[in-house]
Parts: sequence; C-alpha cells; structure tokens
Amino acid sequence: MDIDFYLDYVQAAIEARGPAWRYNEYECCGVDFDSFFAARAYDRYHQALRDYRHEAEQIVAALGLDPSATVLDMGCGTGAFALHAARCYRMVYAIDVAQAMLGRARRQAQRAGLTNIEFHRGGFLTYQHEGPPVDAVVSVAALHHLPDFWKLVGLHRLASILKPNGRLYLFDVVFSFEVCRCAPALERFIEKMSVPRVPDSRRAAEAHVREEHSTCGWIMEGLLERAGFRIDTADYRDEFLAEYLCTKHPRTAPAANVIAAAGQRR
Ligand SMILES: C[S@@+](CC[C@H](N)C(=O)[O-])C[C@H]1O[C@@H](n2cnc3c(N)ncnc32)[C@H](O)[C@@H]1O
Repeated sequence: MDIDFYLDYVQAAIEARGPAWRYNEYECCGVDFDSFFAARAYDRYHQALRDYRHEAEQIVAALGLDPSATVLDMGCGTGAFALHAARCYRMVYAIDVAQAMLGRARRQAQRAGLTNIEFHRGGFLTYQHEGPPVDAVVSVAALHHLPDFWKLVGLHRLASILKPNGRLYLFDVVFSFEVCRCAPALERFIEKMSVPRVPDSRRAAEAHVREEHSTCGWIMEGLLERAGFRIDTADYRDEFLAEYLCTKHPRTAPAANVIAAAGQRR
C-alpha cells in the first residue's frame, strides 16, 4: 500500500473520532442491541410487555400535528413508533446507533410499503440532520443510554434540529422514588420488566439498573430546561417511567461549540 495514502487514511480516522474525551455512543452500555438475533429478540420481549400500536397512537395524539408534519424518532430501535408515524406524517427520520435495529425497522417498512421514512445510523451525539428542521422529535426508551452530562448535550442537539416551537416527546426509564426506598422500588421495576416466557428479560432489567444511565425525575427536568425546552407536561408512572411533552423554547440558543464537538464519532 502507498505509505502516504495509508498515513492520510490514519489521519482521517483520527480526526473523525475526535478528541479522546468525547463519549462514544456507539459503544453500548448494558444490553447490546447490535446483532440480528438481538433485534429479533428485542421485539419478542417488548411486544410481550408493550402494545406498540397503542403507544404510537397515544404519542401521535399528544403531539397534535397535522399530516404535513415531519418527525424524527431518535433511538428508533425496530421502528415501534417510526413505522406508525410514517402512516400519519409526511416524512419520518428514523435514527439509531445500532445497525441491526435499523435493519429490522427498514425491512418492516419495506414489507409495509412505507416509502416516507429515511433511516440513518447515528445517535443523540453524532447524528447530523441535513434536511430542514422538523416539527417534532420523539424518543422512546433511548436517552438512558447516555450519562447525564451527555444527555444534556444530546437534548441540546435535538433542540437544534427542531423548528421554533417544535415539540419533543420523551419517554424513558426515569426514577421518581425516594432514594431511601430504592431497593424495593428497583426490585419492583425488575419484576415488572421480567416476562416469564422471555428467560433473559430479568437479566436485561438487572443490567439496566446496574449499567445503564436512568436518572432521577428532577435531574431530567433540569436537563430538559437547560437544553432549551419548556416542559408542558411531565407524567411519572410506577416511580420508574416518565413521559415528557415539551416545546422548544423560542429563545433557545443555537447549537454552540460543544454541540459541534459532540458530533462525528463512529
Ligand atoms: C430500549 S430500545 C428503544 C427502541 C425504540 N425506541 C422502542 O420504543 O422500542 C433503545 C434503543 O436506543 C438505541 N440507542 C442506544 N444508544 C443510543 C444513542 N446514543 N443514540 C441513539 N440511539 C441509541 C439502541 O440501539 C436501541 O435501539
């Protein structure tokens, strides 16, 4: 191989990775979703726990947008929301760091004849939105993959993708129990997430608590506000789930240096 070509290649790879302090969102914490079998198992597990269609209908109703809207689903997984959204809106951007989850979502979209979804590999910290700003961003059960400081950076980047007054729907595992009661509350969470006919479900729930980054409700509210959102409603369920409906504050600062610095790592 030509040595100059090789050195250019190495230099480009180093630049693309960015500074060593940058969080690598492509390195998974907790459950690893990035294999064909993991993506298939994900749907088997989650469809035993949740009703995708009902959830998506509730999100569409909460957003209150008209069919000409454009919506971005961050951490779309196998398409639980994105596939439904494509039937309701003009354009859907479906984004995920895990190629296998995106692949499954893409195949299901093709099977359903949905042509108005753009799939992109990327995440809260690295996705570069090249289309016009969107009317709404939806993110379900994905933000807990980032530690709190990086959640703030990710939320700030989402605000920069939204039109002024655009809406954010965020659902995640967020803790709202008193810390002195954390042991029984977390046991209850693990119990609720365990599905008897999915043997690994208990292990996945335990790994969630031990290794992923679910935070407290009061921290999440602070992060949303600091990132430039007004919280219209905050709904805490079962002491470990939370749903936020937010509006991008008209005076949200444009994405600053830290946002650019957080991008571009694969
Ligand atoms: C629990 S699944 C939720 C998937 C989907 N939103 C749903 O409702 O079923 C979490 C998803 O977040 C993705 N993810 C993890 N870290 C991410 C990041 N930094 N940015 C975007 N997506 C991420 C995972 O690959 C996975 O598909």
